[in-house]
Amino acid sequence: MGPGDLQAILKGIELYRDERTLVSVGDDAGVYEYGGTVLIQTVDVITPVLNDPYLWGAVGTANALSDVYAMGGEPLTALAVVGFNSCELEVKDLRKVMEGAVAKLREAKTVLLGGHTIDDKEPKFGLAVTGVCPEGAYVTQSGAKPEQLIVLTKPVGTGVLVKALKDGKLKEEDIPEAVENMLRLNDRASRLMLAVGATACTDVTGFGLLGHLWNVCRSSGVGAELVFGEIPLYERSVALVREGVYPRGAVDNLRFVENVLETELERWKLLLLTDPVTSGGLLFTVDRERREELFRRARKLGVDCWIIGETTPEGRIRVVQR
Ligand code: CO
Ligand code: CO
Ligand code: CO
Repeated sequence: MGPGDLQAILKGIELYRDERTLVSVGDDAGVYEYGGTVLIQTVDVITPVLNDPYLWGAVGTANALSDVYAMGGEPLTALAVVGFNSCELEVKDLRKVMEGAVAKLREAKTVLLGGHTIDDKEPKFGLAVTGVCPEGAYVTQSGAKPEQLIVLTKPVGTGVLVKALKDGKLKEEDIPEAVENMLRLNDRASRLMLAVGATACTDVTGFGLLGHLWNVCRSSGVGAELVFGEIPLYERSVALVREGVYPRGAVDNLRFVENVLETELERWKLLLLTDPVTSGGLLFTVDRERREELFRRARKLGVDCWIIGETTPEGRIRVVQR
């Protein structure tokens, strides 16, 4: 996608691969088979998204595990990656970050094996995660077919809230629903996605809803039609964007999808759809016939889910109001 996208950076460089490489650069995680086991590996590092260090550690962990869940895998082990600035991030805060991380890892039954710290101007926290895919039935971004349902499992608009938090316009207590969603693992959403036979899946993070949807469309050779009114948004994010509060990332993301976008929606609405998300939900495509089963299983698993549109044969994204 953007200039910082690893796939774009690697363009033209011939990678070393072997016959055990099943999925490499360009998907949510790499997939590698070794001794009959299908390994799923990924790394994700983020800057402080919340003011509370414990919550930041927990959200960063949910965010890093998410790519394994997006592939339909089960995380097993993790390595911490910590960038710390001795002036800005005191050691006791760093301990709180790790406490939050360890609590989330425990919830995900994932073992922290070690990690690495580095002096960094801006504090960062993340994890390299290894998981497995029990039946070897991993789900990539490239399996979407035309006329499938597009399903999303968490609201979008957290980038706007993170910016407002950083600017001191909000406190964590003002947005309990968004904090809870950022903290929520995508483990059950992943089970839902597998159970209903999703053919393509990704998680919504830094490129925003439209950016990640476009990655799915592009690699699957399909397009999409989204219904704005069906997309779950935080009320607070809507209000802030209308006031002109949004992160630069939303504008950058919009620029990257603009040439494939067909819409008459106002710009503020589009900025909500390209707003960089932290620890967002899964975005997957599933056959129309599975609609009832989707909602039935979602209720049983306790997973929120919204059908936000459908895939189309032509390689563009159309966004309509209703
Ligand atoms: Co991802
Ligand atoms: Co990621
Ligand atoms: Co080291």
